[in-house]
Amino acid sequence: MMTSISARAEIFEVPRFTGPEVIADVFETIYRRRAVRNYSNEAVSRAEIEGLLEAAIMAPSAINAQPWAFVVLQGHEELARYAREGRDLLVNAAGGTADQTHAPGLLQMVSAPDFELFHGAPAVIAIYATDANAVPDCFLAAQNLMLAAWAMGLGTCPVGLARPLFELERVKVELKIPPSWSHALAIAVGHPSGETPPTPRRAALVVTWR
Ligand SMILES: Cc1cc2nc3c(=O)[nH]c(=O)nc-3n(C[C@H](O)[C@H](O)[C@H](O)COP(=O)(O)O)c2cc1C
Repeated sequence: MMTSISARAEIFEVPRFTGPEVIADVFETIYRRRAVRNYSNEAVSRAEIEGLLEAAIMAPSAINAQPWAFVVLQGHEELARYAREGRDLLVNAAGGTADQTHAPGLLQMVSAPDFELFHGAPAVIAIYATDANAVPDCFLAAQNLMLAAWAMGLGTCPVGLARPLFELERVKVELKIPPSWSHALAIAVGHPSGETPPTPRRAALVVTWR
């Protein structure tokens, strides 16, 4: 089913564009968002998904091309099947030499019996670039989506490891994705179970500041 989402914010108040409290809200969301890897069984509602997509499409894009498309997956069985298939693709990647298995320990991690590609989230939103050069635009949409999710009380986790799965020709056919579209990023979405502690950051590496 092809669905269009308008740039309407049904489940939010209309954003206030002025005033210090808005700036504080943005900073709080940026600082409190986490990559969530533990989810409750509670489903994500259709209104919540629509709110996330509406936030995503407010991202800037080169020449306002809006070169993104979204796949929303929610069924537990289907997600579990895709998670297994995505994991198998990573494990079987030729001798661990594929991009996704370069990081030390990654092959071991994805081979572990309890590894779950989507962390058991009840929903996954896969973003595709409708133009070959548009993956960066899609990452901006992804960040909007993740920040909006946090503001709505939802958790998200970007799942770059799902790239081989969502680039697979058969999977693209199943999801009605044209072959020329590039997979940008999959995002697990759900209600967080427990707290996720912050991860540390290095100070910004400023090389030149004239
Ligand atoms: C492009 C990208 C791909 C990522 N892929 C994965 C992934 O496949 N699995 C996962 O659990 N986390 C993944 N992450 C989440 C990062 O591990 C996480 O953002 C990072 O450790 C910082 O933690 P924080 O998001 O909680 O601040 C990915 C993040 C990005 C930006």
